[in-house]
Amino acid sequence: MLVLGIETSCDETAAALVTEDGNVVSDSVHSQIKLHAPYGGVVPELASRDHLRNVRPVIREVFSKAGIAPSAIDGIAVTCRPGLTGALLVGVQAAKGLAFALEKPLVGVDHLVGHLLAVFLKFPGAPEVPPAEYPFVALLASGGHTALYRVTGPQLEQVTELGATRDDAAGECFDKVGKLLGLGYPGGPLIDKLAKDGNPDAIELPWPMRRKGSLEFSFSGLKSNMLRWVTEHGLPGDDQTLRDVCAAFQRRVVDTLIFKTLEAAREQDVRTIVLAGGVAANRELRERSAAQAAVHGIRVVVPPFKACTDNASMIAYAGIQRLARGENDAHALVTSPHTSLPQSTKKGRGKRES
Ligand code: KG4
Ligand code: ZN
Repeated sequence: MLVLGIETSCDETAAALVTEDGNVVSDSVHSQIKLHAPYGGVVPELASRDHLRNVRPVIREVFSKAGIAPSAIDGIAVTCRPGLTGALLVGVQAAKGLAFALEKPLVGVDHLVGHLLAVFLKFPGAPEVPPAEYPFVALLASGGHTALYRVTGPQLEQVTELGATRDDAAGECFDKVGKLLGLGYPGGPLIDKLAKDGNPDAIELPWPMRRKGSLEFSFSGLKSNMLRWVTEHGLPGDDQTLRDVCAAFQRRVVDTLIFKTLEAAREQDVRTIVLAGGVAANRELRERSAAQAAVHGIRVVVPPFKACTDNASMIAYAGIQRLARGENDAHALVTSPHTSLPQSTKKGRGKRES
């Protein structure tokens, strides 16, 4: 089976051709980072307009790079939720038009399920690694979501949420702190780079909700602590202090993510952890999680770097799982700003029922 994937949920316009076993035949990502950078975050109206400009070129590109005719595909998968409505509509309308013209089945994909399955993608020339084995615990940490899941198979109904953030997502926290430190947008990769040569112990910062017994996260307190630090000390005056601040902040986020993920794996009695979402591209998270899990005999499987951030290959692969069951949303496909994954974590502060 060869499937065209289309992704336009946020600030990347992407298309990809992927086979049933996860081989990426060709993929193309047009990033809007430069467009949104002056605003320090994604501007929805600008995102929709830029998707409109680029959705046809990225689709054309994946076919021409692969030397494959559109009529050769077996189906189309498109992100239909969660995301910015105007942005999602561009991809969904393009997919509907193509499906109608080519007379192919069309399925909608939940963006978060795409991220969870990105670990199964194989890019040409990439080293062969043994695939992740079900059941696994997945940490999905991106700009919009941070949650732990138990995943027993590739279908939506095989994913259970174990705990999520009560407030900010980990990636959002990276981006807001990046903005606070005057680094630009998105903060995640910039902080990651600076933290590499910083001393995480040089700056005292509290740990965000690292107590045992809860798989929920909270990152808004850490963001406030960073603001307090800058108010007290001023912006880092020299390069080494900036690196140290980044290293200390990143250590708090990364160690909290790892601590909770390991606790979830132990609680669920699984031997495999999967990292997913843009924050899974973080060097320290990848390295320290693998080392700490190995001590407990747990394997950490990470997607290739370019499959961590938004892409259409993961959407195609998640769509294949539905198409293979003979599903077809065709023209009934609608968009939603919300995920279809079950959510158990209540947003906001306050007492939780046990
Ligand atoms: O998955 P993604 O591309 O988009 C969403 O679905 O949100 O994730 C983007 C997020 C941004 O917040 C970005 O700062 C973060 O992932 N990110 C990183 C790194 N690369 C991307 N965070 C920390 N370290 C990185 N290397
Ligand atoms: Zn994403």
